[in-house]
Amino acid sequence: MTHPRVLRLYDIIAGADFDALALIPGANLQYVTGVDFHLMERPLVAFFVPDQEPVAVVPALETDRLAASGIPFRLFPWSDGEGYGGAFAAAAEALRLAGRLGVEELRMRVLESTIIQRHLPDVAIVPGGAALAELRMHKSDDDVAALRDAIRISEEALDATIAQVQPGMTEREITGLLVVEQLKRGGGKHPFEPIVLSGPNSALPHGEVGDRPVAEGEPLLIDFGTTVRGYASDITRTFSVGAPSPRLAEVYAVVLAANEAGRQKAAPGVPAEEVDRAARQVIESAGLGEFFTHRTGHGLGLQAHEGPNIVAGNARLLEPGMVFTVEPGVYLPGEVGVRIEDDVLITPDGALSLTTFRRDLVQIGT
Ligand code: GLY
Ligand code: MN
Repeated sequence: MTHPRVLRLYDIIAGADFDALALIPGANLQYVTGVDFHLMERPLVAFFVPDQEPVAVVPALETDRLAASGIPFRLFPWSDGEGYGGAFAAAAEALRLAGRLGVEELRMRVLESTIIQRHLPDVAIVPGGAALAELRMHKSDDDVAALRDAIRISEEALDATIAQVQPGMTEREITGLLVVEQLKRGGGKHPFEPIVLSGPNSALPHGEVGDRPVAEGEPLLIDFGTTVRGYASDITRTFSVGAPSPRLAEVYAVVLAANEAGRQKAAPGVPAEEVDRAARQVIESAGLGEFFTHRTGHGLGLQAHEGPNIVAGNARLLEPGMVFTVEPGVYLPGEVGVRIEDDVLITPDGALSLTTFRRDLVQIGT
């Protein structure tokens, strides 16, 4: 078995002291096979065991896509009519697996884990997420090209959207504009539901889009992305509809300085937590630390949230090829929220913001 991405999985198995890895539909399986399978009620499990051809138990309707992946899976298809029990029993017979099976603990469901326990009784299911994070942590030139395309589409769409925003438009209407502008430019699936929040709603970091109309003097926070070849952009800008209130201008200046401090800290050899600390210190010094209620950033790639986490306690040294967000925010409940989010690539001699959308407080709708 010489497929380079399967060999990477075998390295991870050896490094983590696993005997095998099991993947289900999601970014890791997409990275290995090049195919984006849906996680649905039909179980699909791929088993990777060093010195064996990989094994996949696959719903019949997905067999052709998996067979075309270029990886020589031993396929155990099952149809809706017959159910999956027989296919898992046959796969278990072929695998004859015992020992530690690493799984994606944030993704694998009771559905798959109980099937594995039933058919592979000598296997201990262990968390494989931290080891698997290494698989996609360093982006290739092709990955970065896809990220750049996704970011360009999002930034152009954001420009086109804010040019159309008027006071009185609802969050939902503005979201509609943004979605259409991305699709028009070739944007793919949304990596997450767009977050478009007006006025006091902007103080909810992951608030839900609603029918609230935006008024003059209010913030409008827009956090969104698109995908190109599976790779996600993730950008936040906070605007002022009309002239900003003094409170919005004051908070904005602090968050902008924190964003700059975080981006400036990013470089090879710097612990990820130092980027968080640099951004957080600015906000704490302004007396607003308690209102910055999340980590400074997260890795970005086939998933909108992946490694490395830019968070206190993550001593992992940054390395060229890592891509992550720098997105400090300040959220004053019931009043105003500001977040400024960039997507940063670690280069051999520093860091480059792949997002270039202007960061000053832009007045829109006037
Ligand atoms: N948007 C901030 C986070 O999820 O970490
Ligand atoms: Mn983000």
